Amino acid sequence: MKITVVGAGAVGASCAEYIAIKNFASEVVLLDIKEGYAEGKAMDLMQTASLNGFDTTITGTTGDYSKTADSDIAVITSGIPRKPGMTREELIGINAGIVKTVASSLLEHSPNVILIVVSNPMDTMTYLVHKSTNLPKNKIIGMGGALDSARFKYRLAEALDAPISDIDGMVIGGHSDTGMVPLASQAARNSVKVSEFLTEDRLKQVVEDTKVGGATLTKLLGTSAWYAPGAAVSSLAQAIACDQKKMFPCSTLLDGEYGLSDICIGVPVLLGKNGIEKIVDIPLSDTEKAKMQESAVGVRNTNGLLDV
Ligand code: LAC
Repeated sequence: MKITVVGAGAVGASCAEYIAIKNFASEVVLLDIKEGYAEGKAMDLMQTASLNGFDTTITGTTGDYSKTADSDIAVITSGIPRKPGMTREELIGINAGIVKTVASSLLEHSPNVILIVVSNPMDTMTYLVHKSTNLPKNKIIGMGGALDSARFKYRLAEALDAPISDIDGMVIGGHSDTGMVPLASQAARNSVKVSEFLTEDRLKQVVEDTKVGGATLTKLLGTSAWYAPGAAVSSLAQAIACDQKKMFPCSTLLDGEYGLSDICIGVPVLLGKNGIEKIVDIPLSDTEKAKMQESAVGVRNTNGLLDV
């Protein structure tokens, strides 16, 4: 299993690190345009191998896509991250051109690759990859829901004063401050709905804190987060590499599911060796359905800024 990570910044390096630590890939190639940067990150990470107990080989390259040849999975993290006060949508002008070029360069050397898109605005970048490549839709996966769901579980555990392993919850919709739809009515501690333990106001607060999860970190860090995005990518890659058929909310091209078409947005999917093997239709409350439609309007507005 060969995995390429394009972009050796904080998110890309974190992806490579967690993929290696989970020990399911034989090879990770880090690629960056900044001279020597990916090589340096790869070498630093390789020097953790004996300490962290992994056998994955991590190499770096400055822009040489031939080194990524025959990748099974490629992760696109390239582009600029947001600065405090910026929305993910504001990155579109710069990131669209970068993501389009990266996707086509990857496909030139790995025609059968499965792509995981991380660059923001993520749902629109996922849509752009669909429009600019001829890859089947199961092979293009937008990472957002897995990260947002992890942040939702963190906030739920905090509110409930419970261990995270007790918590189950999912965030669908667009990966944006206003577009996320945390499924609060379905979130549970073991199998008991969290609404049994939390007041309506507290649960509302959890939902709001989840939606601005990325923005909160950007404000604290001065740039966007990397540990949880990297961990989320590694979980998606592992589900594909190990054919786990695990369910994650991911941004995928919809064709009538959830009443939406010609849009990439977060919905629950099953991930296995073929990438997205199934879009799972889950029952939503009327409020959740309305929020999902609203979220789609936001994503479509951003898609409208694309030159495709
Ligand atoms: C975040 C970025 C990766 O939410 O979108 O942290």
